[in-house]
Amino acid sequence: MKTRMTELFGIKYPIMLAGMNWLTTPKLVAAVSDAGALGVLAGAQYNPDSLRKAINEIRQMTKNPFGVNLTLGVGSGPLAKVVIEEKVPVVNYSLGRPPEIQPLIQAVHAYGGKIIGTIALVRHAQRSEQLGADALVITGYEAASHSGNVGALVLVPQVVEAVKVPCIGAGGYADGKGLAAALALGAEGISMGTRLACTREAEVADAVKQAWVKATEEDTIIDPAFDGINCRVLRNKKAEELLQKKGMPLADAMSAGMLMKKELDMGWGQLITTARKMKGQEAGIGGGKRSLGSLMRFAIGARLFRTATVGGDPVNGILMVGQTVGRIKDIPTVQEVIDRTVAEAQQILKKMNSQIAG
Ligand SMILES: Cc1cc2nc3c(=O)[nH]c(=O)nc-3n(C[C@H](O)[C@H](O)[C@H](O)COP(=O)(O)O)c2cc1C
Repeated sequence: MKTRMTELFGIKYPIMLAGMNWLTTPKLVAAVSDAGALGVLAGAQYNPDSLRKAINEIRQMTKNPFGVNLTLGVGSGPLAKVVIEEKVPVVNYSLGRPPEIQPLIQAVHAYGGKIIGTIALVRHAQRSEQLGADALVITGYEAASHSGNVGALVLVPQVVEAVKVPCIGAGGYADGKGLAAALALGAEGISMGTRLACTREAEVADAVKQAWVKATEEDTIIDPAFDGINCRVLRNKKAEELLQKKGMPLADAMSAGMLMKKELDMGWGQLITTARKMKGQEAGIGGGKRSLGSLMRFAIGARLFRTATVGGDPVNGILMVGQTVGRIKDIPTVQEVIDRTVAEAQQILKKMNSQIAG
């Protein structure tokens, strides 16, 4: 299956693993790259040393191209430095503003790497292209965690018509029907998050995998209550509880402030400066502006997300999932997901072709 996406990254199939904090471990990333798609490691959970180690682990497990996802903003500079020093073949950034994005793109291009910008708005797609991104991931409303307000059926063709670089659909893709649909909408491939996380190679507790298998497409909620900007999570008791506490009482705000300092490893001065900077940030992925309150939510959210993913407790933690969870009914190997997705898409495209010819 050749598209501009496979050509750009030197991969066999037009599929990538969405960078997912805590879930995209080196083992999962390598399994996806070995299966002929593009494995992507989310850098957010690492410090510079552990990120370098994770990159080397991937290199030991696969000879195929892979990528690292960087959530730009608070504390991402030292991680970006490691990614550049290690000459990671594909770098995928999300969030961020031109003063951070542009030097990253230039540095990655300088060593011959490729760079993907993740966007949820047409104007951000155009801006990423102008700044020099080689490809774009278009995050539709269906996606797990943060997205904009527009679904893939409208957003993908809107972006595809507004830019020239190859586009990759993200959010809602779990099978060959999704891949065929994304190609029909003008994308050059898909990014799979929740689907590839619910595989045998994923290093996440069985309780979490069972929660994904059990959930239907109706079982997600999207709201800023979980980490300060619109975030799609599994509907459970904890999520409902946070929805009720939207105002954040003073006691919660105080403990959130302390937690936030610890989570973000910041002094109070640095924290206030960051909050000010974020206030000016344009709404985009997540659909809202960051403020001090939303940063506090972010710190609380980070702890609860970790309880679910690292702690393996999808009942007392908050589990970020996409609507695509309704399409996940099994726990296959990564290779099985990739192979059947490609086979199904090929079959659909062939059938449509013969229907038209007929
Ligand atoms: C647990 C979790 C963590 C995530 N962490 C990141 C991240 O660090 N950086 C990022 O750009 N996107 C992150 N995402 C979003 C995914 O990259 C992707 O947009 C989303 O999973 C696609 O939707 P899908 O799960 O329906 O396929 C995360 C998603 C999940 C579920």
